[in-house]
Amino acid sequence: MRKSIVLFLTLALADTAAAARDPHSYAEPDRFLVRHVALDLAADFAAHRLEGAAELTVERIDSEATELHLDTRDLEIRSVQMIQASGQARILPFTLDAPDPVLGSRLTIGFTSCCAVSDALRLRIEYRTSAEATALQWLEPAQTSGPHPYMYSQGQAIHARSWIPIQDSPAVRLTYTARIRTPPELTAVMSAARVEDADLAPGEYRFEMHQPIPAYLIAIAVGDLKFRSLGERVGVWTEPSRLAAAANEFADLPRMLEAGERMVGPYRWDRYDLLIMPHSFAFGGMENPRLSFISPSVVAGDRSLVAVIVHELAHSWSGNLVTSATWNDFWLNEGFTTYLERRLFETLYGERRARMEDAIGYEFLVQAIEDAKAAGLPQDSSLLLNLAGRDPDEGTSDVAYEKGRWFLGYLEARFGRPAFDAFLREYFDSHAFQSMDTAGFRSYLLTQLVRPGAPAIPVAEIDEWLYGTGMPATTPPIPGGVFDAVDRAAAEWRAGRLAVGDLPVHDWVPQEWMRFLEGQPADLSDARLVELRSHFRLGADGNAEIARSWLALVVRTAFEPAYADLERYLLSTGRHKLVVGLYRDLARTEAGLELGRKIYARARPGYHATIRAAVERLLGPDAIRTS
Ligand code: BES
Ligand code: ZN
Repeated sequence: MRKSIVLFLTLALADTAAAARDPHSYAEPDRFLVRHVALDLAADFAAHRLEGAAELTVERIDSEATELHLDTRDLEIRSVQMIQASGQARILPFTLDAPDPVLGSRLTIGFTSCCAVSDALRLRIEYRTSAEATALQWLEPAQTSGPHPYMYSQGQAIHARSWIPIQDSPAVRLTYTARIRTPPELTAVMSAARVEDADLAPGEYRFEMHQPIPAYLIAIAVGDLKFRSLGERVGVWTEPSRLAAAANEFADLPRMLEAGERMVGPYRWDRYDLLIMPHSFAFGGMENPRLSFISPSVVAGDRSLVAVIVHELAHSWSGNLVTSATWNDFWLNEGFTTYLERRLFETLYGERRARMEDAIGYEFLVQAIEDAKAAGLPQDSSLLLNLAGRDPDEGTSDVAYEKGRWFLGYLEARFGRPAFDAFLREYFDSHAFQSMDTAGFRSYLLTQLVRPGAPAIPVAEIDEWLYGTGMPATTPPIPGGVFDAVDRAAAEWRAGRLAVGDLPVHDWVPQEWMRFLEGQPADLSDARLVELRSHFRLGADGNAEIARSWLALVVRTAFEPAYADLERYLLSTGRHKLVVGLYRDLARTEAGLELGRKIYARARPGYHATIRAAVERLLGPDAIRTS
């Protein structure tokens, strides 16, 4: 009797956990788990498709389960076969549901009389991707920096399903191998180890990923790619014309990796390489394991924007080693990573530069909290999100990054730095290659807090950080002063007490330039704008972040003489952080909206699907007007 009550309770709890699991996946990891996928794909640059097969190794978790549900989006499924121990294949029935606009199509594979002998199943799915696959971008030679085409994938958040039929939930980890065929003049790279094999034909590549990762971290790029080593474990891949500049920009990579290991423990992925992408790449960086994908806008020429590299490297622990279990727990990836990024940045480049990054990040955070409130979604400023029914790319913001960073800053202050560092190291060690959700982190933290010597932290304070909106009362003092000198000089110049030529710009780092430009008011006179523009040659080129801050000022002040630069800039980069904010600012006025739509009509073909979606949300239903 007692036993059955316990069992009932356990089942009820398990049920709640399952229900809360992942609102963005059809996978049912408590029934079947996909443990491994072997990809065999050919890249068809004419048709913009990947075509071939995925062989899934599936473990049956629930012995009663007879249907496997996988995530797909826009895939054309040719056949599903079960590969028997004898090697023989048997056709299996499958159904592909009508697509849900956010989740895609559920693929259901039925096992009528299988699995009596073994619970490890091998399923071969023959398929091809759509030319519209949301993960994939196919670039014409004109969109690259050489005479060849290029393609790449972007899995995060829920795009892996548009190129692989898979359990596309960050709570499910799997290993993978791949055989990729490309036109012989192109090179394929993946977030995996390359298998060198004399038998490979030209244009044939093999990869193996031995560490289990979530599907969103399976990544591929194909193009005219060359490699330069930067140290024993590190190097850079990119198109030949970018190689020298990239190698110079990221010469600190070995030091970064060592700093990471010193702080949070051994690097578990063997190699850490960078792939410098074409300009349309949608992100500053994407932490694909062993091979971060990096925007060329980070190659500033003076190593001033390497915080992005430190950030993506830090994901080797927070995100890739310990992974947020659902996109609602996104802050566990990005907040931890932003915290580690700032700590490592401080070690590598000094306290002052790190506090500048903090101050800039905090401004973005305040804006994100205001935007969430203005949109009638104040709960989006909570660390734990509720993105059920929404596209996770839409609901995530700087809150996860910067509020998450300050939550850990708050814990650091309570623990003391050495004790908190020990806490972090143990957290990564004890949860390596696992997924974590907000409740799981909370209970881990609470168990650590009852250990002798731990600080006394009221649970209510922790819960306010995790579940409350806006910034908690216990927010540590945010370092402000780093930009005081810049702010003073700006005010003096505006008041006419300092000539433009006397602004102390000679020792400004780009972050100070950004502060100077972002701090200018919307009613700055045209005469002042002309002065800035000509004296400092502000435009669409040079440091991409300074250019963004200048162009944001151009939009804010409706400074028409610089609209051509704005257009050129929006046509030349596709990075989320650089373009989406500019369109958002444009959309604040009627005339701006008009201009934004006009520019977007031309820029759209160069943007990745996720950027198109973000911009179209801002510009409204007329966004795609092509007149
Ligand atoms: N993992 C993110 C990029 C991402 C987030 C892709 C959400 C898809 C959905 C990456 O680590 C990141 O945060 N990139 C930032 C740079 C970073 C320095 C803040 C970016 O792209 O701007
Ligand atoms: Zn990140």
